[in-house]
Amino acid sequence: MSKRFLITTAIDYANGSPHIGHAYEKILTDVIARYKRLSGIPVHFVTGLDEHGQKVQMSAQKKGIEPIEICDSLAGEFQTLCEQLNISNDDYIRTTETRHKKVVQTLLQKLFDEGKIYKADYNGYYSVRQEQFVTEKEKVNGEWPAFFGDVVEITESNYFFKLSEYQDWLIDTIRSNESLIYPRFRSADVLNFLKEPLNDLCISRPKERLSWGIELPFDTDFVTYVWFDALVNYITAAGYGTDSFDEYWPADYHVIGKDILSPPHAVYWPIMLKALDIPLPKHYLVHGWWLSSGSKMSKSEGQVVNPLDLIDAFGADAFRYFVISEMNVGQDSDFSEELFQKRYNSDLANDLGNLVSRLLNMGHRFAGGIIPNSEIIEDEEKVVQDHWEKLHSEIFELYDTFQFHKALERIFSFIRELNRYTEARAPWKLAKSEDATDKLRLSTTLATMSEGLRVSSILLQPVMPEISEKILNSLGQNSVELFGDQLKWSNQLAGSKFGEKSILFPKKES
Ligand code: MSP
Repeated sequence: MSKRFLITTAIDYANGSPHIGHAYEKILTDVIARYKRLSGIPVHFVTGLDEHGQKVQMSAQKKGIEPIEICDSLAGEFQTLCEQLNISNDDYIRTTETRHKKVVQTLLQKLFDEGKIYKADYNGYYSVRQEQFVTEKEKVNGEWPAFFGDVVEITESNYFFKLSEYQDWLIDTIRSNESLIYPRFRSADVLNFLKEPLNDLCISRPKERLSWGIELPFDTDFVTYVWFDALVNYITAAGYGTDSFDEYWPADYHVIGKDILSPPHAVYWPIMLKALDIPLPKHYLVHGWWLSSGSKMSKSEGQVVNPLDLIDAFGADAFRYFVISEMNVGQDSDFSEELFQKRYNSDLANDLGNLVSRLLNMGHRFAGGIIPNSEIIEDEEKVVQDHWEKLHSEIFELYDTFQFHKALERIFSFIRELNRYTEARAPWKLAKSEDATDKLRLSTTLATMSEGLRVSSILLQPVMPEISEKILNSLGQNSVELFGDQLKWSNQLAGSKFGEKSILFPKKES
């Protein structure tokens, strides 16, 4: 079996309901997965939930329930989000699943047997919020950064993973592999972090303090949790230890937010894999944050836009369109409902929605509900087709380099071109003319509008799968499985039936 394109998202913490950051990452990954599938590449797309750790244990204690009950309920919420957003993931991994625990324990045993994990007493500062030991050098202006929450001094026996031995290897690897981290400028953060000597990584917690983790196979008084547990999800889902592992691993892309690149994904994970003699992921795609008036949107910041509310009100595709068109993948973006509504009304309802409803309306009134032939190509049609040819030749490079915001801008500029063309041709006037050439022009206009919509909605399929399908259906077509030569301008719609008039994006009052 040939190697699949394995693409993963971060697995979300089971410590709160989903928000726009989680939704965005899934949509971004889904757009890439759909684009690859349409390009004929076999894809395996994995997302999931990170369920162990102190916060889950503590909130279960507070509520007087078992931690797994919290996880089950949140897994339900996150999976509902995936369904509502039309996320085409092939797998959903939960770190409490047996398949995952087994892999974590196998790896721990292997590293322990090879002397890469050792036990030591550790006296240090501990961040309760981040569930990790922290060092003095992480202080900013003599203070612990706010995201550490309460920092307390503790002494504890624990197990450590020999990170420090691999520091030089990692620096070389990151320096020499220019395409490992996208966008490239994020590598600088990692290399900066690696300027200081690495401490070995504490990978355990005594059960008396934290029991909600995966038991160490060589010492049942301890559990492992957070990164040694969470990162391993990627190889569990790829079938580590089974025959199919090579079909999936190495991952082609780990899609993650900028906060978890360094150190977890770009330091701990490659070193863990190197120590285990497993190939590294090929690339990281690191996206920015959704901000609200300049600060990160997350539950702990108390600024939560519930994506589900917007999906209910505007539809999944409108939400997908908004986040993909608004965010330049490497940068941060500000979210506001006003901006959302503005884009919805202008791009979707006005530019795209109106074009479709006008076409269907005129198709039934002037062409008996059948898509006519393109009879006569004049300058007006040439402008539209030339625009399409140019767009067609640029778009794949934009999709391939994750510049989806630019790709959408170009596609919508073509859609506006179709609107201009319609205005200029004024089929409602042509329909009144008795002139034979005007009759040919009327057919051609409806055919050109239809073909323009056909090809552009195929290009929109990765971002707006449902809307794209509706548009294609209204042109008597199904959505496509493969781009193939479907994007070539043609006369293939002639003779198909126009669908019933429908409103794709009902106008909303702002
Ligand atoms: N559980 C860890 C990841 C383990 S991966 C082996 C975690 N979970 S998280 O729930 O906090 O975040 C999940 C993903 O959502 C991360 O990639 C994170 O960057 C992303 N986002 C969380 N808030 C975000 C925004 N406000 N904006 C964009 N994405 C952000 O980290």
